[in-house]
Amino acid sequence: MTERTRLNKEWLDYLAAASREFERSRIRSSRYYPHYTEQGAWKLLDVGALSSWQDGTYEHGNWTAGFWFGNMWLTAMVQGDDKPAELALSRLAELTDRAHDHTTHDLGFLFYPSIALGYQCGYLGLEQIEPALQAARMTARRFNDQGRYIQAFGPVGEVRSAGTSTIDTLMNLPLLWWAYGVTEDPRLLDVARHHARTSARLLVRPDGSTIHLMQLDPVSGAFLTESTLQGASPDSAWSRGSGWAVGGLSWSYAMTREPELLVAAERAAAYYERMTTPDKLPPWDFSDDSPAAPPDASAAAAVALGYLLLGVSHPDSTARSRFDTAGRGLLDTVTRLAVNRDEGADGILLHSCYSVPRGRGVDGATAWGDFYYGLAMSVAHGALPIEYLLTSRRR
Ligand code: GLY
Repeated sequence: MTERTRLNKEWLDYLAAASREFERSRIRSSRYYPHYTEQGAWKLLDVGALSSWQDGTYEHGNWTAGFWFGNMWLTAMVQGDDKPAELALSRLAELTDRAHDHTTHDLGFLFYPSIALGYQCGYLGLEQIEPALQAARMTARRFNDQGRYIQAFGPVGEVRSAGTSTIDTLMNLPLLWWAYGVTEDPRLLDVARHHARTSARLLVRPDGSTIHLMQLDPVSGAFLTESTLQGASPDSAWSRGSGWAVGGLSWSYAMTREPELLVAAERAAAYYERMTTPDKLPPWDFSDDSPAAPPDASAAAAVALGYLLLGVSHPDSTARSRFDTAGRGLLDTVTRLAVNRDEGADGILLHSCYSVPRGRGVDGATAWGDFYYGLAMSVAHGALPIEYLLTSRRR
């Protein structure tokens, strides 16, 4: 098999999995969306499930429904068939209440893949994007001026939540970049830029591994402690954290051209490269070197997208070409090892994890893995121009 045929076969495998997901979605309730799979079946979550503190630990609620909408736009685009987009459009109203959710930083995950990307791809008009702009304003209200971070968890200013900041928020920032492009509201740009800088400084360690969560003093802004919910331990290297860092910092650099964001993106990328080999998926946490460590392909998908973004935005042409090649190579690995070829199982990208410590969604499909993999594949195969991610115009 030639390289080109093999790549085409991988593209076809992705399309087959994406189209199965569309067909299965048609018969589901419009209130419930894929979260992660267990034993090959989606665990579906009510779109209105809000985040909360339960017994001292944070429950994210539904932070993943937006990815399903993103997958439908992508499926429509790559197949040249409007039916998946029509289905997404018919369900969009279910999501819009969440634009007023004041309990979470995850509004970017909910509203970038759904409304912002739907608009960029031409499936939504200006008159349909207000919920995403509202969600962006809501996110900006979570900004702590003293510490220059977006509060991760809980209602703004609530005592136990006020100092929380997480690596995941970096991958929520595309909502703010996009909303700034539409509205030219400088507050949205400032919040995103300062949050990205703070994360680059405090959440990416000198060796390029990442801290999952940090607690800051919300009054002075000082760093207090590192911790984690989904990683192995506070000082371990949760691989999805690498995914959120490489993806989010690369995107942030592409939007701002701020050198410190490029430095941090490259440091996180170099760490990921050091810790992985092309014949394997990353383990869920790089500190778990046991042969039975569950893999997390969703982390690799987010890294691959970051590489493709550096492949167009890095100021050095040799580095651009190196990152572009690395992104395609990583997608090749991920497709070979993790795309769903089992017609009986749900999901597009398998071998991913939600939370190993909590025993949730271990080694299955995840809503975000499906989305970032589909997005990166669509860019790499020329089905979605990368400019759609970097500008704010309807196509
Ligand atoms: N945003 C939650 C996670 O990545 O698990």
